[in-house]
Amino acid sequence: MQPILEVEHLKKYYPLRHSFLSSQCDAVRACDDVSFKLYPGETLGVVGESGCGKSTTMKAVIRLIEPTAGSVILQGTDFLSLRGNELKQARRHIKMIFQDPYSSLNPRMTVKEIISEPLDITKGYADREEREEIIVHTMQQVGLDPEFTNRYPHEFSGGQRQRIGIARAIILHPEVIICDEPVSALDVSIQAKILNLLKKLQRELGIAYIFISHNLGVVRNIADRVIVMYLGQIVEEGNNTELFQDPQHPYTQVLLSSVPGLSGGGPVIMQGDVPDPADPPSGCRFHTRCPYAAPICRLQKPELLENVPGHRCACHRTAEISLSGKAETEE
Ligand SMILES: Nc1ncnc2c1ncn2[C@@H]1O[C@H](COP(=O)(O)OP(=O)(O)OP(=O)(O)O)[C@@H](O)[C@H]1O
Ligand SMILES: [Mg+2]
Repeated sequence: MQPILEVEHLKKYYPLRHSFLSSQCDAVRACDDVSFKLYPGETLGVVGESGCGKSTTMKAVIRLIEPTAGSVILQGTDFLSLRGNELKQARRHIKMIFQDPYSSLNPRMTVKEIISEPLDITKGYADREEREEIIVHTMQQVGLDPEFTNRYPHEFSGGQRQRIGIARAIILHPEVIICDEPVSALDVSIQAKILNLLKKLQRELGIAYIFISHNLGVVRNIADRVIVMYLGQIVEEGNNTELFQDPQHPYTQVLLSSVPGLSGGGPVIMQGDVPDPADPPSGCRFHTRCPYAAPICRLQKPELLENVPGHRCACHRTAEISLSGKAETEE
């Protein structure tokens, strides 16, 4: 199957102010050489500690912020080279929903105005009647009463507001939706309803999701595959079962062992604090906190290797264990 989205060597650096003492202009390397593929209709979970670059990476993919380097191929088209009207048209295929439905909806616009905005920008209807039909149908799809089209966001609950955000995202039937912590601001009971809605829409419309969340339980519930990020880079990628049952990277093992009820990692203790993304450690960026760090980890960046089919991991130790395992079976 062809991927719907292919991201290669994506970088986003936020420049820091020139310091008196340094002749160099440093930058926060929020997303530093990230490559992944997204396939039609799947859900790709993205996890990692706060500040590891999840939002930055995905905002750069959709060009809410312009990437520093890299390529983004959306449905076979070079998305980063698009300008003006071409970009506007291509944007209908990829949408983003955010954590906070309070701040992502314009309080001065009615629900109808908010939902129909993408439709009007792309003139995606034949006449007024069809426009009306599309709006009513979309509201029904996300479980909003079409009677409420002329109300304002503040008249809705948090969960309903997130439904408005979802309606706006799906109205043009995008192939890809990036969900950045879409349920983190909601009560647990409402979270389940919104997750079920996202799954239902995926079945009905065949949407592929990139699902960012710090909640590993939620990611385990919704994702087909998972990417683990650390300090602006992917350290592990695998399908849901493999990643949660047999995590290979020490960082993933730490993440999983910190959540009650998620096993697989065992009690791995992480040392120290997250390093400064403007001055990341040499070699493997995780070596300063890794319980297994060896001299090579300080010197050489580990490659993201596919030791098990479909399961990639960037760790010298894992690569070595996998190599010795292979040698044993060949003997
Ligand atoms: N506009 C900006 N200017 C400078 N630095 C930024 C900017 N936005 C983010 N950063 C920095 O980039 C790094 C990655 O931030 P980002 O928001 O992408 O992380 P995240 O993984 O989404 O975190 P969280 O889980 O808290 O949402 C952090 O060090 C952050 O401080
Ligand atoms: Mg974020």
